[in-house]
Amino acid sequence: MDSKESEIKFPDQHEWGRKELDIAEVEMPGLMGIRKEYGPKKVLKGAKISGSLHMTIQTAVLIETLHELGAEVRWCSCNIYSTQDHAAAAIAHANTATVFAWKGETLEEYWDCTNKMLTWPGCDGPDVLVDDGGDATLLIHEGVKAERHFAKTGELPDPNSTENLEFKQVLRVIKEGLQAGHTEKWTKMANHLIGVSEETTTGVHRLNQMSAKGELLLRAINVNDSVTKQKFDNIYGCRHSLPDGIMRATDVMIAGKKCVILGYGDVGKGCAAAMKAQGARVVVTEIDPICALQALMEGFEVKRLESVVDTGDIFITTTGNKGIIMAHHMAQMKNNAIVGNIGHFDNEIDMAGLEGYPGIKDIEIKPQVNRYEFPDGHGIIVLAKGRLLNLGCATGHPSFVMSCSFANQALAQIDLWTNRETGKYEKGKVYILPKELDEKVAALHLPALGAELTELSKEQADYIDVPQSGPYKHQAYRY
Ligand code: NAD
Ligand code: ADE
Repeated sequence: MDSKESEIKFPDQHEWGRKELDIAEVEMPGLMGIRKEYGPKKVLKGAKISGSLHMTIQTAVLIETLHELGAEVRWCSCNIYSTQDHAAAAIAHANTATVFAWKGETLEEYWDCTNKMLTWPGCDGPDVLVDDGGDATLLIHEGVKAERHFAKTGELPDPNSTENLEFKQVLRVIKEGLQAGHTEKWTKMANHLIGVSEETTTGVHRLNQMSAKGELLLRAINVNDSVTKQKFDNIYGCRHSLPDGIMRATDVMIAGKKCVILGYGDVGKGCAAAMKAQGARVVVTEIDPICALQALMEGFEVKRLESVVDTGDIFITTTGNKGIIMAHHMAQMKNNAIVGNIGHFDNEIDMAGLEGYPGIKDIEIKPQVNRYEFPDGHGIIVLAKGRLLNLGCATGHPSFVMSCSFANQALAQIDLWTNRETGKYEKGKVYILPKELDEKVAALHLPALGAELTELSKEQADYIDVPQSGPYKHQAYRY
């Protein structure tokens, strides 16, 4: 591996990054436990791992865990604003991975970094992939599609065939590869790749859609639906990092404000709880009657956006859906209402509509904080240009909760790699890790918090019909 190949912004920040990494390791008992158990056996020896996941300090500890288990690693971020440059610098300096990431990438740079992260000099591509949101998986699948079409017709993909600014870049990257004569790059990569472990709800949704249509070319592990990921990172992680992002960006007092949380799934539950704990008056929007009823039981009002659009002070989208807050909603908001998104993609907020609003002025207050002023002089404050604000305006979830998520990632990578020839995982299918491993991840985190776990007697185990050593719940249990 050639550290000089890394493309990062501030290599001189490596000592700072290393100091924070040393502290993070103490807060990440899941990953350190995995290093202790699997490190000496080098279970990932020979594996080339590519990763597209926010290049933060916590991710750096994941990368160095994969490295310590024997893997060679290439990495990029899965969002243009989420890289912590000192984390990238520490990794590049230690040469534990080749990194292509910096905070504030353009879309063009972002997709070039994704391409470089997937491109392994001298071979067809990575053996295993870590993805967060599915962009790397998308690039491979679109590449395969374009190569098939090119082989049949000689036609190149046309970036002007789409209005979607991200997809334009996907098509550009693929087109440039074909023009350079790499006519089988993505096909060979997809054939070579053992599988992907996907981090987040939105990425899993994409994988499930591809699998249902018979279009998924890979084996896939859904890390998001491990209980120790979904019910911790999505809830408690966002409960920490949402207020962190709002406060670092604006310094606004949250207490007393009317805060509208759009979506009350796992992320929405964490966000609403955080705003309530700050003393905000919380209103929730939902489409699902079960989640709406859950919100009511927690003491939140459930309203349509239209009912609170002109009285809310802070609006946060958490749905993983598109078109949640439109430009006409933002035009009706109070002066200096704050609008942000914590869902994976920026299409929850109609940024194109806002930026194209007749007479709108875009005033940058500081990086990732913009005031959009309407022609009548009133304005709204938009965080991270609609991209996930906890990573754009702050540093994402803290280490302890990411240790739970990333322990699942490391276990998924180990399982995909060590089962590469056993037939355990089939191409085109999406799997979740077994409950035994979920319980193992949780157990790794208990001693750090001084927990004393009660032991189940044989008689009790028989009575509730579970094995004495776990798993302690049946598959349908919802936690
Ligand atoms: P989820 O499915 O549990 O929750 C989404 C909720 O939004 C659901 O309850 C759904 O009914 C609701 N919803 C959908 N459309 C709606 C609409 N039009 N109006 C109101 N509500 C609507 O998903 P989740 O796990 O909470 O994840 C949400 C998003 O956050 C995803 O994009 C996920 O990838 C992302 N995520 C981000 C972070 C982060 O750190 N920023 C962490 C975890 C997950
Ligand atoms: N997702 C949410 N917070 C994160 C963090 N700190 N690092 C990587 N991914 C994240």
